[in-house]
Amino acid sequence: MARGRSLEGKAIVITGAGRGLGATYARCVAAEGAAVVVNDIDAASAGAVAAEIQAAGNRAVAMPGDVASWSFAAALIERCIDEFGGIDGLVNNAGILRPARIEDIAEADMRRMIEVNLVGTMACGLAAAKRMLAQGRGAIVNVASGSQTGDIALSAYGATKGAIASLTYAWAMECAGRGVRVNAISPLADTDMAKSNTKFLAEQSANREVAYASLPPPETNAPVVAYLLSNRAVGVNGQVVRIAGRALSFVTHPMIASPVLDGEWTLDAVAEAFDTTLTGRQSPLGLTYADRAAGR
Ligand SMILES: NC(=O)c1ccc[n+]([C@@H]2O[C@H](COP(=O)([O-])OP(=O)(O)OC[C@H]3O[C@@H](n4cnc5c(N)ncnc54)[C@H](O)[C@@H]3O)[C@@H](O)[C@H]2O)c1
Repeated sequence: MARGRSLEGKAIVITGAGRGLGATYARCVAAEGAAVVVNDIDAASAGAVAAEIQAAGNRAVAMPGDVASWSFAAALIERCIDEFGGIDGLVNNAGILRPARIEDIAEADMRRMIEVNLVGTMACGLAAAKRMLAQGRGAIVNVASGSQTGDIALSAYGATKGAIASLTYAWAMECAGRGVRVNAISPLADTDMAKSNTKFLAEQSANREVAYASLPPPETNAPVVAYLLSNRAVGVNGQVVRIAGRALSFVTHPMIASPVLDGEWTLDAVAEAFDTTLTGRQSPLGLTYADRAAGR
C-alpha cells in the first residue's frame, strides 16, 4: 500500500535555505506535504526557493534575515505560527565556513562563525523549542559536521559544530518525554561552502582515516532530514546522524572510559597510570570509524 506524504499538515522552518543543502531540504519537506518558511540572509535566494516551491503546488513563504540576531530568530518562529498556524519542525541549517590555519585565522572570522553557526542555532532553537514544549509536539534538526572531530584549518568552524552536537544532546535530554525531539545531522555535499574549502582538502584527507573520493550532491541528505522531522522518527532523540553519500550511520557520542585509577593518588601514581595504560589508549585525531579505532 502506498504511504501518504510523511510531513502532511506540518509547518517547518528551514534556515539558510536559499541555496545548497538548505534549499534541497526545503524542496524535499514541501514535496512531503509540509508548509515551509524559507529563511536566508540573502533575500533574493530565499524568495526564489519559496516561489519555486509554490510553483510546484506546495506551500512556502520566504522570511529573509540573519539567524544570529536573537530578535530576528524569535520573529522567524512567530512568522511560521502566524502564516501556517503552528511550528512542527525547525532545521537549523544556516552556517558559514571561513577556513584558516592557526597562523592565519582572523578574530572577526572566528567570532562570526560562532555567531552564525552556534548563536544562530541557539536563538532559533530556543524560540522554537519553547513553542514546541508548550504545545507538546515538535522536532528540531541541528546541523553538525564531520569537522567536529577536529581538522586542519577548521578549528573554529569545527568548534561551533562540536558545540552544536553538545547542544543537541542537552536539548534532547530536556525535551525527552515531552513530545519534542532534537537530533542533528552531519551532512556531506558538494555546495558553495564545500568549494570554499578545496584549498585544504588534500591536507585534510591525508590526515583522515575516512576519505571521500568525491562529494555527493546535496539532495542525498534531504530524505534523512525529512525522516527526522516526521512522526516516523518518533523513537529517535539526541542522535547525530552521519550522512556520507550513501553511507548512513550514527556519530558516536563522547563517553567516559572506565577509570584506571581510583581514590587518592600522587603525581607519580598518575604518571604510572599514563605510562602503563592511558598513553597507549589515546583516541586517534580526526575523522575515523569508532569500531576500527576500538580494534573491532
Ligand atoms: N557542504 C558540506 O559538505 C557540509 C558538511 C558538513 C556540514 N555542513 C553544514 O550544512 C549547512 C549548509 O551548508 P551548505 O554546504 O549548504 O552551505 P552554503 O554556503 O552553500 O549555504 C549556506 C546558506 O546559509 C545562508 N546563510 C549564511 N549565513 C546566514 C545567516 N546569518 N542567516 C541566515 N542564513 C545564512 C547562506 O546565504 C547560504 O544560502 C551549514 O550549517 C554547514 O556548516 C555542510
